[in-house]
Amino acid sequence: MTRRGLWLAPLLALGGCSGMQSPLAPAGAQAASISTLFWLMMAVCGFMYLLVMGGLVIAMLRGRRRRAVTADPAISPKDSGPSRTLLVWVALIVTGLTTLIVGSFLAERTIAKARAHDALEVRVTGHQWWWRIQYRDPVSGRWIETANELHLPLGRTTRVTLGSADVVHSFWVPNVAQKLDMIPGRLNLLDLTPTRAGWYRGQCAEFCGAQHAHMALDVKVESPQAFDAWLGAQARPATAPADPVAARGMAIVTGGACAMCHVVRGTAAIGKAGPDLTHFGARRSVAAGTLTMSRGAVQGWVAQPQALKPGSMMPAVPLSPADADAVSRYLLELK
Ligand code: CUA
Repeated sequence: MTRRGLWLAPLLALGGCSGMQSPLAPAGAQAASISTLFWLMMAVCGFMYLLVMGGLVIAMLRGRRRRAVTADPAISPKDSGPSRTLLVWVALIVTGLTTLIVGSFLAERTIAKARAHDALEVRVTGHQWWWRIQYRDPVSGRWIETANELHLPLGRTTRVTLGSADVVHSFWVPNVAQKLDMIPGRLNLLDLTPTRAGWYRGQCAEFCGAQHAHMALDVKVESPQAFDAWLGAQARPATAPADPVAARGMAIVTGGACAMCHVVRGTAAIGKAGPDLTHFGARRSVAAGTLTMSRGAVQGWVAQPQALKPGSMMPAVPLSPADADAVSRYLLELK
C-alpha cells in the first residue's frame, strides 16, 4: 500500500461496518441496543482522549516556556498545589464513567426486556465445524432438524438454546444480537428479535480448531408468512426424485457411505454424526458457509473435502464421474 493509500485504511475499515456481518448495521432489537451503547462509549472515550491529548500538548508547550524562564536561577516556578483544573478533571472523569455505567446498564435492561413468553424455540448445537439447528414445531411440538442455515421470522422473538457437541464455540450473528458462547455440558439462552428482513452472516466467534474460520452460518430474516411456509417445507420428509439420474444418486447416497453420517428423512439414511441433508438443496451454501451452493461445489466437496476444509469429519467419497454427477443432482433436488 502506498503512503497515500494508508490514509484510506480507516475508510475501508468503516466500509466493513455496513454489511451483512456487522454489529454497526443493526437488524435486530438486541443489536440496536449494543450499537447505541457502542456509539455512546465511542463518544465519551473519544472526548476524553482528545481532552487528555490537548492537555498533554499544552503541558509540553508550557514546560518549554518555563524551562526558558527558569534558566535564570534567581527565578523559581511557583508551586500551585491542587488547582481548580484538577477538580474539573475529577468531575469530568466521574461524569464520563457514570455515563458509561448508566449506558451499559440501560442497554442490558433493554436486551433483557425484549424477552417474549411466546418465543419461537430453536436449538443450535455447535460441532467442529458446523451448526445443528432444530426448530420446535409450534403446532405439533416435535423438533424439526436442519443445519447451517437459520431462518428467523421478522419482528418476532426467537429463543435460541445454545449447546456444543465437542469444544467451546461461540454463536454470533452481529447484525441481530450479541455473541454468546456454546459450552459443552451446558445450555445458554439467547433471544433474537430481528427488525429488518434480509440475509445475514453469522460466524463462530471462539477459536474451536483448524476450521474455526470455516464455521459460518447463513441467516435469513423473512416475513412471518414466508417463515411459516419455510418451516412447513422443512418439516416434510424428502420427496423421491422423478429424474432417473437423480434417482441413481439417491440410491448411492442412501445406500452407501453417506447414510452412515447423514439423515435424509423419508429414506434409509439415518446417520446422526453429520448435518441433516433432508432439504440440503434449498440451502444457500455448502459445508457451513465454505462454498456457495452449486452442483460443482457439491461435487468438489464430496470428492475433496479434506482439500477444502482440512481436518473436518467429512471423509472423501470416491465416486466415478457419472456417480458424482448423479449424487450432486440428487442432493440439489432435495429442496
Ligand atoms: Cu466453532 Cu470457532
